[in-house]
Amino acid sequence: MISQTTINNVFETARLEEVIGDFVQLKKAGSNFKGLSPFTDERSPSFMVSPAKQIWKDFSSGKGGNVVAFLMEHEHFTYPEAIKYLAKKYNIEIEETERTNEQVAQASERESMYLVSEYAQKYFAEILHEHEQGKAIGLTYFKERGFNSETIQKFKLGYALDQWEAFTKEAIKNGYQLEFLEKTGLTIVKETKQFDRFKGRVLFPIHSMSGRVLGFGGRILANDKKAAKYLNSPESIIYHKSKILYGIYQAKQSIAKEDNCYLVEGYTDVIQFHQTGIQNVVASSGTALTAEQIRLINRLTKNITILFDGDAAGMRASLRGVDLILEQGMNVRICTFPEGEDPDSFAKKTPYEELVSYLENNSNDFITFKAGVLSQEAKNDPVKKAETIRDIITSISKIPDTIKRELYIKECARIMDISEEVLFSTLAQLSNAAIRDDKKKSKQAQKSFDVVHKNTQQVKKVDEQYELERKIIQILLLYATTETEFEEYYLKEDDSGVLILDKELELNTVHQKVFLSLQEDEVEFTNELFQILYYEIVKHLQQDNELQIDTFINDLAPELASEVTSILMNEERYVLNDWERQNIYPIKKEDNIGRLVNENILNLRRFLVTKKINELAKGVSLEDSNAEIIQEIMDYTSLKKVLSEKLNRVL
Ligand code: CTP
Ligand code: MN
Repeated sequence: MISQTTINNVFETARLEEVIGDFVQLKKAGSNFKGLSPFTDERSPSFMVSPAKQIWKDFSSGKGGNVVAFLMEHEHFTYPEAIKYLAKKYNIEIEETERTNEQVAQASERESMYLVSEYAQKYFAEILHEHEQGKAIGLTYFKERGFNSETIQKFKLGYALDQWEAFTKEAIKNGYQLEFLEKTGLTIVKETKQFDRFKGRVLFPIHSMSGRVLGFGGRILANDKKAAKYLNSPESIIYHKSKILYGIYQAKQSIAKEDNCYLVEGYTDVIQFHQTGIQNVVASSGTALTAEQIRLINRLTKNITILFDGDAAGMRASLRGVDLILEQGMNVRICTFPEGEDPDSFAKKTPYEELVSYLENNSNDFITFKAGVLSQEAKNDPVKKAETIRDIITSISKIPDTIKRELYIKECARIMDISEEVLFSTLAQLSNAAIRDDKKKSKQAQKSFDVVHKNTQQVKKVDEQYELERKIIQILLLYATTETEFEEYYLKEDDSGVLILDKELELNTVHQKVFLSLQEDEVEFTNELFQILYYEIVKHLQQDNELQIDTFINDLAPELASEVTSILMNEERYVLNDWERQNIYPIKKEDNIGRLVNENILNLRRFLVTKKINELAKGVSLEDSNAEIIQEIMDYTSLKKVLSEKLNRVL
């Protein structure tokens, strides 16, 4: 783990505008910088960087945060990777802290399973590179397959000795508990005996998107017809086969950069592609593609190219995965290899340039591909042809974008030589069927309709409260330590004995004022995020007596930091536009902070009081005696009147 001192050092040294400047061309705009969003294709800049606050906001994608958040978004780094990148850029030495045995023991079950997997990965790699048997058998095998040392290192390949419990014994000797060895499936426990699951196999560690070891695929070396060629880690709380893509960690940057992801079937396909020089490739590991796997890719690119083996077996089945991809609004292309070749064997004998141009020339849009494959099967059989058309239109109907859908229909009509009208009416039939299906479902859900209806009304009410609470957080973030005069209102009798509102000026800091007012009313934030932020702000002020946004944000959890960024940068947004000509001025509130604070707190109080009155009114019934409730309603109503009057004076 990177030490806290190093992390602090990195945050103190790194300049956001310099770091972002390496990726985005920034121009000065007032006290900020602006540029074109690196996350979307845009013509006019909506990307803002505040050097003073050390935060950024991309208004076109809604993303924002501090320097680490930028690197995590843009470079798809994990948190430690981002820190390491910055340390390198600013020549800061990285200090690592070792985990003590005690820390290991205390880590949660999941964490323990990650740790044991990471240990296993290192152990198996060491056997491969250092042990006689590992070198003679494992390393020789990989070299024979054409993997060079750099590739073997990049994928952290390993070897498990052909002994019943060599690994298990070593792991236990190093303080890892049998419980987690068993839960990760690395060790198989049978009564009093233990066996190494991957005994005698070469190993392919499987990493998460952020680079943690989740499990392994182990390939047998002997030509044993009875044993499975590949043995994988069993399902566990860290290894969910359906949510994993082999190679995603090594491929993520390249996928985002190339804006395309090649999808293959096997471990060796991925590795051979990397070795040839193509890195944006992942494998579904021989299983049918799932929506979760597609979502992983969708975070990085909208484009997938599926690479099919030469033998057409299984191709039809794999085509089903295409619909899942289309459903997520992604674009699918398909590329096939010559008879008898798979991506591994083809990449192995093809130089980089040739491979790139092969992929370019042989990738077809899914519709062209599907039409080709299916019409080949249908040929002169009109019944089959009709089926084929329905099949393709079904795929097209999954595409969320209507314009794209129309373009595909036109393309399909051209390829299959059918009139567009027929295709459009088939599409309409399918869509109607889908709607009927939905209606059926909604009939079943009829009972819950009322509840849903009520909820939508509530949401509207909560929104007003949300805005008010958000505003108070914003005021605190911007002006917490500002000292200013507040108008204090209180009730007094005038000369003729009538109660009137009078005011006095009182000097205070903004955060004191907010804190006292909220406490007086026992007001709690209903929004959980604001509630946590409020306490974080109070805590920070108690410790430091000041609220410096950059240090404050760096200590926050990512979702809190992101919220703070979006609250703060919303104000800056005006700078992006030519606001002076449009007559929209950013609100300059510094001159009148006292009023701003009062206004917001009064508004929130009035809102809460109104809510209370409405709640009480619901409880009034005709039969019972309601004296108490009615008294309470009257009290609240007069409070509301006072609040309204105060508000009128403030405004
Ligand atoms: N697979 C598996 N279990 C098996 C067979 C296959 O999990 N018993 C998965 C593996 O992820 C494998 C992929 O399916 O990489 C593709 O299988 P296959 O084409 O048979 O293997 P290759 O990757 O081509 O492996 P090799 O070239 O080593 O034979
Ligand atoms: Mn193969």
